[in-house]
Amino acid sequence: MRVMVLGGDGYLGWPTAMAFRARKHEVSVIDNYFRRTIAKQCDSDALVPAPLLPERAALFERITGNAIEVFVGDCCNFDFLSRTVEAWSPDVVVHFAEQPSAPFSMAGYDEARTTFANNLTGTFNVIWSVLRHVPDCHIIKLGTMGEYGTPNIDIEEGWIEVEHKGRRDRFLYPRRPGSLYHATKVLDTDLLWFYARAYGLRVTDLMQGPVYGLSTDEADLHQHLLPNFHYDDIFGTVINRFLVQAVAGMPLTVYGKGGQTRGYLNIRDTLQCIALAAASPPPKGELRIFNQFTETFSINELAERVRRVGNRLGLKVAIQHLDNPREELEEHYYNPAHRGLLELGLEPNLLTEEVIEGMLTRIRFYRDRIVRRRIHPRVRWRISERRDAVDSYDGGAVRSA
Ligand SMILES: NC(=O)c1ccc[n+]([C@@H]2O[C@H](COP(=O)([O-])OP(=O)(O)OC[C@H]3O[C@@H](n4cnc5c(N)ncnc54)[C@H](O)[C@@H]3O)[C@@H](O)[C@H]2O)c1
Repeated sequence: MRVMVLGGDGYLGWPTAMAFRARKHEVSVIDNYFRRTIAKQCDSDALVPAPLLPERAALFERITGNAIEVFVGDCCNFDFLSRTVEAWSPDVVVHFAEQPSAPFSMAGYDEARTTFANNLTGTFNVIWSVLRHVPDCHIIKLGTMGEYGTPNIDIEEGWIEVEHKGRRDRFLYPRRPGSLYHATKVLDTDLLWFYARAYGLRVTDLMQGPVYGLSTDEADLHQHLLPNFHYDDIFGTVINRFLVQAVAGMPLTVYGKGGQTRGYLNIRDTLQCIALAAASPPPKGELRIFNQFTETFSINELAERVRRVGNRLGLKVAIQHLDNPREELEEHYYNPAHRGLLELGLEPNLLTEEVIEGMLTRIRFYRDRIVRRRIHPRVRWRISERRDAVDSYDGGAVRSA
């Protein structure tokens, strides 16, 4: 296959590109370093120093003999994206190229507008580039489990049969995003569904849970091939953040009561899921949706696991409950389906004590690069705190750096 990875410099994009290339597919990556730029503005630099894409691709080629083609450019620039898609002619486009942080999207007007414009325009341009030049191409789009929110009923895999006044039909499962970032993902999904119905687009939308880890077969070949691992309050996902807090000797900061439950997965399983989706594309005109996670945990359970393993390694890990900066339920029902990817052959790498120990050991190597002030929550979006504050809410918290 010819696989084009949009957002190929990112936490998930770079390991995905290497994994496809290592399996002898042709691979290209597109990125405009948007994430590096906004991370700098927010004082949220990654834990592991990652060279820019041309350097990483050259290193990967030196070690493995496999070349990855690099295009530096903006998916929001239709001329650039459309020309690149036309020239490279992919069979699969994996679309990671979005602003992925909920706190960033809730920091103020500028951050909200940036998130909205970047994510929606990028997806719109991907759709049109594919329609124009490679209409049979399979778009694999990264959505999020956060599109569903935490409804008080079972969450289905993308779709739900509704019976209303004696008649039945199939609809997208109701979505209830909890941040503007998540709302852009909901809108992406609707856009993709429209273009699948109206223009015969072929799409897999992966409702992914928070990902953890930094080890993949290819990333382990050299420290400069490791993913772009963030641990701060803006870009760090919760398990990665807890691991870094444990190594830094800081308490693991649980927001609110800690009963918030989500579906998580190892970065190795993200790679597996995308490979499985790519290997069995849906027919044209179909929007296929998978819920992409392997296990559910409450925040309290995660903190307890990290504490247990950390203490075994002599780290003296404490847990601290903070006032929740987010508007979210802290105790709720959560039962999402996730059969589709298992049926395609996913073999989960679970969050065992050995896996936690391996990640802590890896992170300890970078201990001196941990900047403690980056971990405490800077963006607060509880309605009770915001109701009178929207006008004056200017994102200063994340721009103060
Ligand atoms: N990491 C997770 O836990 C997680 C969970 C669920 C969903 N996702 C989704 O997966 C995708 C990848 O997430 P990630 O954690 O790797 O994020 P990331 O920020 O590390 O990667 C995204 C990459 O896309 C690039 N990008 C953004 N906008 C661009 C544009 N307009 N043009 C070109 N490049 C652009 C960024 O520079 C970055 O390198 C995102 O869509 C995210 O919403 C991630």
